[in-house]
Amino acid sequence: MSKKLNQMEKENNRRSFLKGCGLATIPLILPTVGLTATSLANASTVRSVSKEQAVNFIFDGLAFSPDEYLDKLIEITKQSTIEPDFYGQEGSIRLLEENFAKITGKEKAVYLPTGTMANQVAIKLLNGMNTKVIVPENSHIFRDEADAAQSVHSKRLVPIGKGEPYFSLNDLKDKINYTNESEVFKSGLGTVVIESPVRRADGVAVPVESIKEISAYCKQHGYKMHLDGARLHLAAAYTGVSISAYASYFDTVYISLYKYLNATGGAILCGDAKMIDQVAHQVKILGGTVYQNWSSSAMALHYLKGFKERWKKVRTVSDKLINALNKLEGIQIKSIKNGTNIYDLSLGKEVNLKTLAIYLYENHNIWLGRANDKGIVKFTINESILSRDIHTIIAAWEAGVQKARG
Ligand SMILES: Cc1ncc(COP(=O)(O)O)c(C=O)c1O
Repeated sequence: MSKKLNQMEKENNRRSFLKGCGLATIPLILPTVGLTATSLANASTVRSVSKEQAVNFIFDGLAFSPDEYLDKLIEITKQSTIEPDFYGQEGSIRLLEENFAKITGKEKAVYLPTGTMANQVAIKLLNGMNTKVIVPENSHIFRDEADAAQSVHSKRLVPIGKGEPYFSLNDLKDKINYTNESEVFKSGLGTVVIESPVRRADGVAVPVESIKEISAYCKQHGYKMHLDGARLHLAAAYTGVSISAYASYFDTVYISLYKYLNATGGAILCGDAKMIDQVAHQVKILGGTVYQNWSSSAMALHYLKGFKERWKKVRTVSDKLINALNKLEGIQIKSIKNGTNIYDLSLGKEVNLKTLAIYLYENHNIWLGRANDKGIVKFTINESILSRDIHTIIAAWEAGVQKARG
């Protein structure tokens, strides 16, 4: 009986893996977007096939299952008792906020239930009575926040840099001139937004020199600046520019708690005290004041500690891995210009992706994502590669490629 159940569970895992990793018939992901909402929902049902932690090349983070998440929380609270928060006050939330204020070099930090809310509240408060906010055309704020700025906060988002991973100072000047010269009934521009790393551009980090120029110009002209830094730690890990150096160019900075800090959700917004002190009221108005969030804040706090050192290791180990994989015939992994943790993986015609992915999953609990319409797999590096000896991961790939070859 238990053997049968075991077999059924294995089969379920296999099916959800196939769905989640796009090796079945669900629509292909967009090349520059990463996983779509639908495929992401499928992917989050992927389960480890063994007790050994999965090594995943799909997500920014560890992609814990509920069981693994609970185990981790127990481990964390055994090390140091998790203190509960109360409507966003005290407990592990306070510790998290203090840590983020320190890391970003800002006066204060505040917890919000989502990054979407952090972005929207930030631009609303920064903008004051001004109506216009300049945003990257490919940004989460412009493309993925359900027109919240227009429909909830009466702000008009003006997109810039269409088709580019990020915009330049000249693009910004042109856009400002265009709106100044072409609009008869003028309304003010209050805020300029930058997103970095850019989710819709495979995690490209906006060069700090470009941010610096734009920031100086905005300061000179009285425009506020907001950074959607959902994955800002990844930018820091790959460019060597510190979080506080990035943050110094902005009035407010949002950082995600779940992209790579492994919480189930949540966001932090940092800025000066005058600004951050207004946020809790805005969150309440929007219905976002949650009774307790310690399960997210304690997890994020845990992974925040030692992040820099761990990612130094991740980089060394992943360089080794990529080097070794590139020596296998039929495998090519290339970095992306100004990229962070996402690489382009392409397979020679003789290597079958589906066979390789299934082999890696079933035999080694290694997860590989689907190919886009150009045949490229967005090969994503995260901390999960530290959970095993790198030589065992390389050996698994060697065997997998051998099996997947024609
Ligand atoms: C760049 C960026 N900003 C903001 C968000 C929104 O975060 P949340 O899902 O917490 O609303 C995301 C989420 O995917 C994102 O990738």
